[in-house]
Amino acid sequence: MSVLVTGGLGYIGSHTCVELMNSGAEVVVVDNLYNCKKSSYDRIKALVGKDFKFYECDIRDAEGMSEIFEKESIDSVIHFAGLKAVGESVEKPLEYFDNNVNGTLVLLDVMRKHGCKKIVFSSSATVYGMNNVSPLTEDMEVGGVTNPYGRTKYMIECILKDLYVSDNAWSICLLRYFNPIGAHKSGTMGEDPNGIPNNLMPYITQVAIKKREFLNVWGDDYDTPDGTGVRDYIHVVDLALGHLKAVEKVEGENGLFIYNLGTGTGYSVLDVVKAFEKASGQEIPYKIGPRRAGDIATCYSEPSKALNELGWKAERGIEEMCEDSWRWQSQNPNGYPD
Ligand code: NAD
Ligand code: UD1
Repeated sequence: MSVLVTGGLGYIGSHTCVELMNSGAEVVVVDNLYNCKKSSYDRIKALVGKDFKFYECDIRDAEGMSEIFEKESIDSVIHFAGLKAVGESVEKPLEYFDNNVNGTLVLLDVMRKHGCKKIVFSSSATVYGMNNVSPLTEDMEVGGVTNPYGRTKYMIECILKDLYVSDNAWSICLLRYFNPIGAHKSGTMGEDPNGIPNNLMPYITQVAIKKREFLNVWGDDYDTPDGTGVRDYIHVVDLALGHLKAVEKVEGENGLFIYNLGTGTGYSVLDVVKAFEKASGQEIPYKIGPRRAGDIATCYSEPSKALNELGWKAERGIEEMCEDSWRWQSQNPNGYPD
């Protein structure tokens, strides 16, 4: 089995490539290196102990993508490539729609022309919007999104659903990720954000290595047990393993499948701070700040559909997520080498 992984050198893609190759699959990676370093390729290779194909190419480059499909025999695609910073998407909506939505259209057209009709797509819990009440189930209405990033995920879900209606020979799996954190056990691969991290865990780890003075906790007056926001954090290796099951699904039958990838358990910001302090032995100073625009109080999954239909469930708990995030950050204070 040969899987094309777009965005395969990024945070979730790199962990998925390792698990795919460990399971015996052939992997071909396409990445334009916009939000990752080339050394991520070397780290993946070192971990699995074997070489794999990497093409530096933008998914919007139809010609370049076609050449890859002509050279390689691709059975299915896992599509991670995309821009993902919520705040930046508000400032640069055209870039987000072009990269994420147009990029996906180009990819799908190239796939169709080469007779490859199996795709697993990185969607997000953000498509559930502001109005659904957790635990979130796959049959809830989606689309109440509040920012261009979220809208690109929702639009791509719509495009893929319409594509399946037009041609039932496609096999499409939409994976709605909750909050991926953690890193590979080896400490050699992890999340390496550019600039000031937006997300909670990379911010905490940068406070722990004293790159940042303190954590801003965005609001402590939510209707949650301690007043801070509650999320469904999932270990990135569990998430990666979910992709293996999703690829098996699209390889095995045609259809349009939608799954939450989460643990089903919510932790507050202060729960994560405490768990991280325990796992790392580092103190995380924090200050309570105002609410962040666009945030909701509580967001966690109902994960049983993925268990029932894919035989997948998250196995790693919050302690392990924190330990592995800390190992990665403490061993690589500046992230991947240039
Ligand atoms: P990431 O930025 O680490 O990885 C994305 C990779 O795609 C990067 O290596 C980047 O260089 C590449 N890329 C971007 N645009 C490209 C293009 N036009 N052509 C080729 N390569 C391109 O992000 P990640 O955290 O690994 O996320 C992967 C996917 O999962 C994204 O689509 C993201 O929106 C989605 N997602 C992420 C999260 C999260 O919290 N990390 C949550 C929900 C959904
Ligand atoms: C954010 C995005 C979401 C995206 C997801 C994964 C927003 C509004 N939503 O979700 O679209 O799919 O990341 O990439 O940006 N927090 C702090 N201090 C910080 C950072 C975060 O208190 O410095 C809090 C937040 O208020 C929230 C929780 O920590 O309660 C998690 O935040 P974050 O990691 O940014 O993820 P989400 O907000 O769930």
